[in-house]
Amino acid sequence: MSTNESLANLLKEDRRFAPPSELAAAANVTANAYEQAGTDRLGFWAAQARRLTWETEPIETLDWSNPPFAKWFADGRLNMAYNCVDRHVEAGNGDRVAIHFEGEPGDTRTITYAELQREVCKAANALIELGVRTGDRVAIYLPMIPEAVISMLACARIGAPHSVVFGGFSADALATRIEDADARVVITADGGFRRGKPSALKPAVDESLTRPGTEKVRNVLVVRRTGQETAWNDERDVWWHELVERQSASHVPEAFDAEHPLYILYTSGTTGKPKGILHTTGGYLTQVSYTHHAVFDLKPETDVYWCTADVGWVTGHSYIVYGPLSNGATEVLYEGTPDTPHQGRWWEIVQKYRVTILYTAPTAIRTCMKWGDDIPAKFDLSSLRILGSVGEPINPEAWIWYRKNIGADTTPVVDTWWQTETGAIMITPLPGVTETKPGSAQTPLPGICATVVDDEANEVPNGSGGYLVLTEPWPSMLRTIWGDDQRYHDTYWSRFEGRYFAGDGAKKDEDGDIWLLGRVDDVMLVSGHNISTTEVESALVSHPKVAEAAVVGATDATTGQAICAFVILRGSASEDEHLVEELRAHVAKELGPIAKPKRILPVAELPKTRSGKIMRRLLRDVAENRALGDVTTLTDSSVMELIQSKLPTAA
Ligand code: WT7
Repeated sequence: MSTNESLANLLKEDRRFAPPSELAAAANVTANAYEQAGTDRLGFWAAQARRLTWETEPIETLDWSNPPFAKWFADGRLNMAYNCVDRHVEAGNGDRVAIHFEGEPGDTRTITYAELQREVCKAANALIELGVRTGDRVAIYLPMIPEAVISMLACARIGAPHSVVFGGFSADALATRIEDADARVVITADGGFRRGKPSALKPAVDESLTRPGTEKVRNVLVVRRTGQETAWNDERDVWWHELVERQSASHVPEAFDAEHPLYILYTSGTTGKPKGILHTTGGYLTQVSYTHHAVFDLKPETDVYWCTADVGWVTGHSYIVYGPLSNGATEVLYEGTPDTPHQGRWWEIVQKYRVTILYTAPTAIRTCMKWGDDIPAKFDLSSLRILGSVGEPINPEAWIWYRKNIGADTTPVVDTWWQTETGAIMITPLPGVTETKPGSAQTPLPGICATVVDDEANEVPNGSGGYLVLTEPWPSMLRTIWGDDQRYHDTYWSRFEGRYFAGDGAKKDEDGDIWLLGRVDDVMLVSGHNISTTEVESALVSHPKVAEAAVVGATDATTGQAICAFVILRGSASEDEHLVEELRAHVAKELGPIAKPKRILPVAELPKTRSGKIMRRLLRDVAENRALGDVTTLTDSSVMELIQSKLPTAA
């Protein structure tokens, strides 16, 4: 059976939610944006570029003469930090809060745009004193503290591309990234607060700098956050509070070419060494700024925006730093975990700062479902008006739970599909325009061209599935893989001639709306039918006893692959002898007998990467009774032992 017919609509989801009329009436972006962009796509992006402040306005929009290497706004010049900070101060908004910082222990810091400007200038002057020049790479390995944002903006201000490495990564991962980007300075902290205690960071930097390939790092700039004991190398290490504090608070921003490299961010992917995704300045800022304005309908004077991601991921780059700040937003920055000191911490923060727009990930939503509805119910969440989701397909039931328990059954939920490589949101509902469907990212944004194709690159008709592709270049697209143009071409542009292959399975429903089905590696082949892990997981999560599910295909002598499910039960549900049968029957009823899992195993936790994605590869190892593959990117490797210890009880 071809992908075309087989990924067909298994799951029926008929619930629809119209945009609230007040929101629709005052929305930043309305339906005619789709028409404008449809008639003149490049003209549309040129107009969005004018939302920014350029030193030299671009005349050229797109240069696609050498595909897949794009240039956007190539003759324009601008400064990133000026656009995110200084211009708001110059416009008279220096007193507006840029960042409400909430540390995990409960310490807080309020930073206005005027203060942010001074901090960024001081940090830029400090980097210059350390010898950092335009084009030099700086590695950033920090907790979620204001200095992370300040460091990124300081690098951008002087044209030194940053490479932010997530603070949860090991010394080895850090060393590989320092070496690949050839960084000269590392910015870190003594530690950060995590789960109620200080968690050291500097020792990982010290260790990474003993690895071959990192010799060119001259200095380590260290923020004092926790005050914990820290080994010191006098030749190399510099305290932030000593160097940065004594700098001048003014610095004249220099304009750079629109195609000047802004940052490198590594994605691990499933095979091979991490890919250094390269983003540049003008096109990237155009799209992150526009999408933040359009998708979150930001009203900078009144909204309080909060994206719960870590700045170490692309979500943090685009929707904590560059998008919101370029739009002059007031935002929350939270250092810690959602359950410290209690499971209502996030909702307490929403209540405290009167957060109006919340952007988080399905994994966090499902965790809150597991903890129980009574926890968010204790807090006043009435300030919220838009909820966003990103990172994985969101199961319809988790979507409904989010809207109902967090959004008072009134706020639109925007399910935003994009990738580190795309730089900014690509497929999503618009909160004032789209009638939403739980579980679907629905529509490419104005100016974005996406479709679903079969194995032979033919566009599939509505009602069928296949592979998601992007058919035209977009402003915030990756420009290459750092140092490896060939790999850039091979990974993304060779599977389907002239089109960007995203690596995700997707289907188009009868209306032509797009439903994401997970990575193509996560599609199972059962008795000749392609079945997506996402759909079986969503069917399981639609059962009232299930909070979270992970599904894999295990080699099976009769059916090719057999569906094997791992489920986490909701707070109140208990495991009894009938449960497994009940869940199997439920999936059969929701999706049809072909999708009925052969085995279902209730577990306490699922293996997840540090960015919250389920590692199905490891579950496949368990289901196929193999030794486990690489577990180093797991948040918690003991999870796998727990799961394996439960195996004999499997159905
Ligand atoms: C992959 C990209 C985008 C920032 C965070 C992740 C999956 C992301 C959705 C969504 C279904 C989604 C895809 C994509 N993904 N958002 N709304 N619906 N799937 O960035 O680590 O580069 O991962 O995340 O599989 O390819 P990333």
